[in-house]
Amino acid sequence: MKKYTPSRLLFLLCLSLYANTTLQAKISVRPTSNVNRQRISINKGWHFFKYDSVAKADKLIYDVRPEVSGSTEYKVADAKPTEAVEVKTTQEVLKPWILPSANGFINDPQKRHVRPKGNPCSNFPFVQVGFDDNSWERVDLPHDWAIKGPFMTGSNPEVGGGMGRLPSNGVAWYRKKLDIPASDAGKSIFLDVDGAMSYAIVWLNGKLVGGWPYGYNSWRLDLTPYVVPGGKNQLAIRLDNPNNSARWYPGGGIYRNVWLTKTSPVHVGQYGTYITTKNVSKNSAILNLEVTVDNNSKTNANVSIVTRVFALNSAGKPVGDPVTRFASENTKIATGKNAKISSTVTIQNPKLWGPAPTQTPNLYVAVTSVSQRGKIIDTYETRFGIRSMEFNPNKGLLVNGEYIQIKGVNQHHDLGGLGAAFNTRAAERQLEILREMGCNAIRLSHNPPAPELLELTDRMGFLVIDEIFDSWERKKTALDFHLIFPEWSEPDARSFVRRDRNYPSVIMWSFGNEVGEQYTGEEGAKVAKRIHDIVKEEDTTRPTISAMNFAKPDMPLPAVLDAIGLNYQGEGIRQSPEFDGTDRIRTAPQYDAYHAKFPDKVILSTETASAFSSRGIYLFPVSKEISAPLRDGRGGDSKTHQVSSYELHAVDFGSSADKVFGTLDQHPFVAGEFVWTGWDHLGEPTPYYESRSAYCGMIDLAGFKKDRFYLYQSHWRPEFPMAHILPHWNWAERVGEITPVHVFTSGDEAELFLNGKSLGKKKKAQYEYRLRWDSVKYEPGELKVIAYKNGLKWAENTVKTTGAATKLLASADREIVNSDGKDLTFITVQIVDKDGLVVPRSNNSIEFSIDGPAEIVATDNGDATNMVSFASKEREAFNGLCLVIVRSKAGEKGKITVTAKSNGLKETQINLQSK
Ligand code: GAL
Repeated sequence: MKKYTPSRLLFLLCLSLYANTTLQAKISVRPTSNVNRQRISINKGWHFFKYDSVAKADKLIYDVRPEVSGSTEYKVADAKPTEAVEVKTTQEVLKPWILPSANGFINDPQKRHVRPKGNPCSNFPFVQVGFDDNSWERVDLPHDWAIKGPFMTGSNPEVGGGMGRLPSNGVAWYRKKLDIPASDAGKSIFLDVDGAMSYAIVWLNGKLVGGWPYGYNSWRLDLTPYVVPGGKNQLAIRLDNPNNSARWYPGGGIYRNVWLTKTSPVHVGQYGTYITTKNVSKNSAILNLEVTVDNNSKTNANVSIVTRVFALNSAGKPVGDPVTRFASENTKIATGKNAKISSTVTIQNPKLWGPAPTQTPNLYVAVTSVSQRGKIIDTYETRFGIRSMEFNPNKGLLVNGEYIQIKGVNQHHDLGGLGAAFNTRAAERQLEILREMGCNAIRLSHNPPAPELLELTDRMGFLVIDEIFDSWERKKTALDFHLIFPEWSEPDARSFVRRDRNYPSVIMWSFGNEVGEQYTGEEGAKVAKRIHDIVKEEDTTRPTISAMNFAKPDMPLPAVLDAIGLNYQGEGIRQSPEFDGTDRIRTAPQYDAYHAKFPDKVILSTETASAFSSRGIYLFPVSKEISAPLRDGRGGDSKTHQVSSYELHAVDFGSSADKVFGTLDQHPFVAGEFVWTGWDHLGEPTPYYESRSAYCGMIDLAGFKKDRFYLYQSHWRPEFPMAHILPHWNWAERVGEITPVHVFTSGDEAELFLNGKSLGKKKKAQYEYRLRWDSVKYEPGELKVIAYKNGLKWAENTVKTTGAATKLLASADREIVNSDGKDLTFITVQIVDKDGLVVPRSNNSIEFSIDGPAEIVATDNGDATNMVSFASKEREAFNGLCLVIVRSKAGEKGKITVTAKSNGLKETQINLQSK
């Protein structure tokens, strides 16, 4: 093994600079109903160290990587992926010791990895029990080391706009002492990591345990052979997150929850239950249950397994007596092996799980008990739902017999100013705002989520396309997943399905997005078939899909997939004459061609639109077209890097919302769409890579609604009376100039008034989704719209020219927070005039402070160009609005006061409670 002398010296030097106090965080124990199985959160009290630069980092690497030269920054999102680069090395790497961690997810025993002899790197200081890490930073998980920045501004940043200009790259260590009591001797002890970004390698007490490279998957390591019961046990985790590994902001660190799971040696295995339902009706349903029990004891075990099923209430708590039970099954499990039992039961009058708003997302929990010699030795809970699902190629999706049009959005994993660090309340808020818009489905682009997100979609009744890969063998960025695809595609795909197959909200498995194998004919289709088959081996109840922006119906790849997922191809790509002669993808509209070629496959649009806007920015002149690419003076401004909110412009290969609605309405066999995107995300700031975050959301990064939100709401919630006027009406410099007024309404006609004078009534024509008064001349005052539906008054909306900004106004999405140290409240601060109207173009700087048992964790304003750290307590408003995110402190209750101040404006305070 290589000696690590330079790094070691660096560290000893570095550590000697710090004080010598010891902090040994206690593990918080939260036992389940059965003392034989404990799932203990170990999020608190980690010691963290990140090297200043990759060059200075230790060399305990998983594997060597290709050299990256030049920048991959300005690559168009739909650029053709390229071949992997082969790297050869004689350097010793840790990969052979990590690969065995995948064995549980490799089906062919011949292909499983054998751990080489030896204990590499046991001499490295950071892995040793005695190493003094007191000088390291104290952090709690989930932790994203990059989100506080600083943003890398300028023209040649180390991390570019694509990955969000934040320092997610680099090598870092997390260490934590685990208290393992003597009474744990004889138990099986596992480390369960919901997600660590990335290339995690784990040591316990100086011994290399294993690891998991892919940052978005959840994984488990068996610590049992390395644990010393009755003492402190030193856990050390090394992460190595490469630059040029993603097309968006990946975050960095252990950014999801981490658990210690303790069980009897004979126990239900990891993801050890699988529940499917069939013959589902209101009257009855057949439930099938598979349970896998592992025997890690030294002797063979005779066990009996019984599972009772309870209904869950809307708060997720079991209620009443069991509604049914699976008959007890006996099985013998040889030492070191596992056994799978399968049983079936019919449940009467099941409460079905179905998507909101027309159905209710009812849930159940199956409680499985494993007994040996009459004594319960393990209890395992599985949440699930009972629903029928059918994909009809001519009609789309039927859930419990009801046709549900998919009104979906793509969502990236980040939570804006909170970064990648998962927070349930922040994710719930994203879903709540999407729901208000009429969204009923999300596609998890392009990676598996935190498990808690699927708990939310189950509970709230969203439909989900769960997705695992953005690339296979061919690469989009130099160091993306393609590097590990050969060895990890099977284990990653299997563990992804096994983890998520009991969530009723998951309706499809997507195993790819715009992959390079679309371009490689039969060879690419072979890769697709291999992953497709793996997914089907793990779950037969949901179709597979892989999103295609290039493959045509007569190419080999689509034939492999159960369902056809088209990105942008339904509307056609780059069809206008201005793209004549381009070497980019140009494609005529494809819905009919696909439907004709695959009459038995359901088609849906996995990505539509990719339209852009900056909230509150309106640029003139306004395009007459309903959908146009973005250029300077045509919806965009390459000096300010802002995009117009008239909502008429999209990425070159995309289409405006209006155009997509029209195409879908003319192709009713298409099951629906997933718009690119619901919320803005960090990184991938097309069309201006000088920025930090995307422009394609209907909701900005701070959670403020763009005009597009109302366009979707008007179409997706036709029964909800609403009308929305744009732009704002503060155009002192435009008096007498043409200033078009557009209205989004769920009504079918509307009359617009300027200062009480009618500007005419307009009616939506077929396949028209907005009403536009394009020749309005600006004069200050009041714009009012009255919308009608079927001849009756339906909704109205008013926009007024405001006075000067005089004060701040604050409102919180929740005034009471839970004192659990995780709960959040999102406070919006508006800059208003004397009458309380939001002053549209005000960008005053605001300073925030807080009193009481809570802290300010982030501020934001939704401006994609803003390079102020999210951790800053001072921030400019963007077009009248600013956001401050406040988190409770664990165990501390009482009154919280948040104050916002700005020079020349009356300050504001808001009072909250932590309970
Ligand atoms: C698509 C891609 C998405 C995103 C989008 C941006 O081609 O699948 O991940 O990059 O373009 O417009």
